[in-house]
Amino acid sequence: MKDFSNRATGPGIVLMVMLMAGSIAIGCTSAPAPGSGAEIYTRYCATCHQGDGNGIENAFPPIRETEWANGDKGRLIRLVLYGMQGPIEVKGQSYNNVMTPHGFLTDEQVAAVLTYVRTNFGNDSDAVLADEVARVRAAEGDRGLYRSERLTNRIGIPQPDSSATTP
Ligand code: HEC
Repeated sequence: MKDFSNRATGPGIVLMVMLMAGSIAIGCTSAPAPGSGAEIYTRYCATCHQGDGNGIENAFPPIRETEWANGDKGRLIRLVLYGMQGPIEVKGQSYNNVMTPHGFLTDEQVAAVLTYVRTNFGNDSDAVLADEVARVRAAEGDRGLYRSERLTNRIGIPQPDSSATTP
């Protein structure tokens, strides 16, 4: 014969589990997951480029469907690590401002935020890998802000061993 002695506690436990799951789900919808590309974008990029990626006219360029966001990954990684200053043109509009460096972010964080940028805001480009960020960082070392005219042509991801041969 079966033992039904714990029958009364059953529904109570089910209800408790449902309430807990519900509150976790509500917590998740209010903010993007910590460490995700979306969260890093909101924290470090959205102040200037805005949550919708449209930027602010005459001050901060859009990252929506731009050549920089979808183009060469080496250039994009350098831009985020070292920042940029000087005149550029984005979608037919001229900008001449300063993007602050973000070299304090880890290779994983840079990869996550750039992959997020390249796959959202109407962008449709391949992911940026932490290893690619690490290779650019190793080859470039500790350098200051890029002038826009220099960074525009700094394309490509260095080979893994290139830092050893760089003087
Ligand atoms: C302090 C404001 C500021 C922050 C923060 C900032 N940017 Fe920028 N960003 C700029 C400015 C200004 C430029 C243009 C620089 C120039 O005029 O030479 C730019 C240029 C760019 C470009 C190239 C042009 C374009 O719009 O396609 C990309 C891509 C970009 N930023 C991505 C990012 C990402 C990703 C982050 C976060 C990790 C970030 N930016 C954080 C201000 C900022």
